[in-house]
Amino acid sequence: MPTDAPSTAGAQPPAWALAPFDPALAADLRQLIARLNGPQRLWLSGYLVGSLAEDSAGLAAAPASVPTGPPVATILYGSHSGNSESVAQQLGEALTRRGLSFQILDMLDCKKNHLQEASNILVIVSTHGEGEPPERAVPLHELLHGRKAPRLEHVNYSVLALGDSSYEHFCETGRQFDDRMQSLGAKRLHDRIECDVDFQESAQRWVDGVSDALALAHPATAPQAPSFFPGSAGAERAASPVANAYTRKNPFLAPVFLNQRLTARNSTKDVRHIEISLEGSNLHYEPGDALGIVPRNQEREVDAVLATLAFEPEHPVTVGGTQTSLRQALLEHFEIGLLSRPVIERYAEAVAAPALTDLLAAQEPEALQRYLHGRHLIDLIQEHPPQGLDAPAFARLLSPLAPRLYSLASSLQATPDEAHLTVSIVKYLSLGQDRQGVVSGWLGALEGDDAHLPVYLQRNPAFRLPASHDTPIIMIGPGTGVAPFRAFLAERESLGARGANWLFFGDRNFHYDFLYQTEWLQWRKSGLLNRIDVAFSRDAERKQYVQHRMLEQGKELFAWLQEGAHLYVCGDAQSMAPDVDRALHQIIERHGALSSEQAAEQVLDLQRQRRYQKDVY
Ligand SMILES: Cc1cc2nc3c(=O)[nH]c(=O)nc-3n(C[C@H](O)[C@H](O)[C@H](O)COP(=O)(O)OP(=O)(O)OC[C@H]3O[C@@H](n4cnc5c(N)ncnc54)[C@H](O)[C@@H]3O)c2cc1C
Ligand SMILES: Cc1cc2nc3c(=O)[nH]c(=O)nc-3n(C[C@H](O)[C@H](O)[C@H](O)COP(=O)(O)O)c2cc1C
Repeated sequence: MPTDAPSTAGAQPPAWALAPFDPALAADLRQLIARLNGPQRLWLSGYLVGSLAEDSAGLAAAPASVPTGPPVATILYGSHSGNSESVAQQLGEALTRRGLSFQILDMLDCKKNHLQEASNILVIVSTHGEGEPPERAVPLHELLHGRKAPRLEHVNYSVLALGDSSYEHFCETGRQFDDRMQSLGAKRLHDRIECDVDFQESAQRWVDGVSDALALAHPATAPQAPSFFPGSAGAERAASPVANAYTRKNPFLAPVFLNQRLTARNSTKDVRHIEISLEGSNLHYEPGDALGIVPRNQEREVDAVLATLAFEPEHPVTVGGTQTSLRQALLEHFEIGLLSRPVIERYAEAVAAPALTDLLAAQEPEALQRYLHGRHLIDLIQEHPPQGLDAPAFARLLSPLAPRLYSLASSLQATPDEAHLTVSIVKYLSLGQDRQGVVSGWLGALEGDDAHLPVYLQRNPAFRLPASHDTPIIMIGPGTGVAPFRAFLAERESLGARGANWLFFGDRNFHYDFLYQTEWLQWRKSGLLNRIDVAFSRDAERKQYVQHRMLEQGKELFAWLQEGAHLYVCGDAQSMAPDVDRALHQIIERHGALSSEQAAEQVLDLQRQRRYQKDVY
């Protein structure tokens, strides 16, 4: 069951047993509270305590020190997997302890007037994609970088940037917010802090720093306010949504017990259904979460790279402050497949290669993209040998090897201790060579009883089933994007949820690529899946995709939305998600008889209500 689901069925949670409400009101309240996210609950608890204080002025029991009036600080968080959100709560607690008032806003809920009215803005934001803002931070990011950005001379601010140094664009979004706010006239209250994967310590340093700076500027108008989280230490609470024993630095070695091809032999794609055991790991995931796989390059590919180099494979190099051999570093720590602009820039600077310098300076931005497409490190070395460099200098040019994520396609409710993945194996021919993706290539070749995968849990609180089991859902998941929806349905089936379910699936060919076809049909037969609409792009002369099916079914889809349906999109971020988004706008515009601006506002509103959620990659 999703943790935020109301427990309407079965026994009353103990905390409610003696609550002074009649059962119907108690059930309503529990349902309502279950729909709120952390910051909304925090705000509500503060509001209730505050209004109680006002209502009962003079009553001994009333807490006297809850901050009222315009908040001293506006905490803005932009989060995908919940880390920034948890730090926002941590900061809220720190300000509460200093008697400072604040409001916490998800960036998606932040409008221009919030910026205009705020005097201290504390930004906590992660970076996703390839140096992009998290989905829910995009509108604010666009607002600040657009022509309609408000001037911020009246604002003091500070930025906490969350990121992962194994990505090329480390903490890029936080840096952009910081630069932009300063260029809009805001004044830094505290320096930006950039956090790597183990973010807690640096985040705490920033939380302490900004809270102290604010307390100094606003000598508390009230004595120490009571904590909104009685009996909990900030760091503990903040860590809880993300805490689990296994991380990418300390993954769980999970046995693989099934690796089955889902696509038919004649398919142009090789998509696998992989089942692994989580037994003994104590990893508890929810539908919508993903599993991270710690990558490792294949030995033969590393040896091929080493054969093109003049260095000894055992030559020592330093990675993250630790010494290891060049071969080991290439196996575990460096990207030897994909190249990127920063690698080419470093390489061009270190190795005299005018062709690369020209490419970087080219007027036409596509020139570099064309060069990078399908080119691996080995190609670069062969074209431009790293003469004059020693092994450590060469290693410093390379990019770190980032983990790969896979949506969980199973529900612990239905299959305890198991994790199922739906993986498309990346294989292609480039420069006359057969190439494959680092992790999917590895997964494709996994076989044997002793196969294991180093995994960790990547939570995704921004992609969750509705709290109410009665709420209808519409799931749009072509290709491997269908994976989380298998988890959604398995979960809803196990819980006996009554909400209606509608799936849009698409792929290339009906006969070869209909992933999990028998399962959908069984669920259709059992009544769990109320509707399924499919689009197979290569079966007809005119290509048909899920967005075409959505438009065909626009009237019905609009009616579902009017009935409160939540809409989910998972899969390709480049073409599919924008096309689906456009289709959704068109449907709302047409069937709601709205202007395009009004439709856009409705879509944003759906996002704000967490009824339009995307998990795209
Ligand atoms: C939140 C999230 C959930 C995800 N869920 C899933 C999932 O459920 N299932 C799934 O399969 N994937 C999923 N992915 C994608 C997955 O994480 C990997 O990115 C994917 O498997 C490729 O990784 P790899 O290591 O195999 O390939 P990489 O080594 O990363 O290589 C992939 C790259 O190869 C290049 N390439 C690919 N084809 C060609 C070509 N024809 N010509 C030239 N170059 C080419 C492209 O640059 C491409 O980016 C998800 C990603 C995210 C972020
Ligand atoms: C798919 C994906 C892409 C990411 N891309 C980047 C990136 O480009 N740069 C970066 O610094 N961090 C990147 N990260 C790391 C996140 O910013 C980091 O995990 C952060 O703690 C997430 O915070 P959040 O839970 O608030 O979103 C990426 C993480 C994921 C899962």
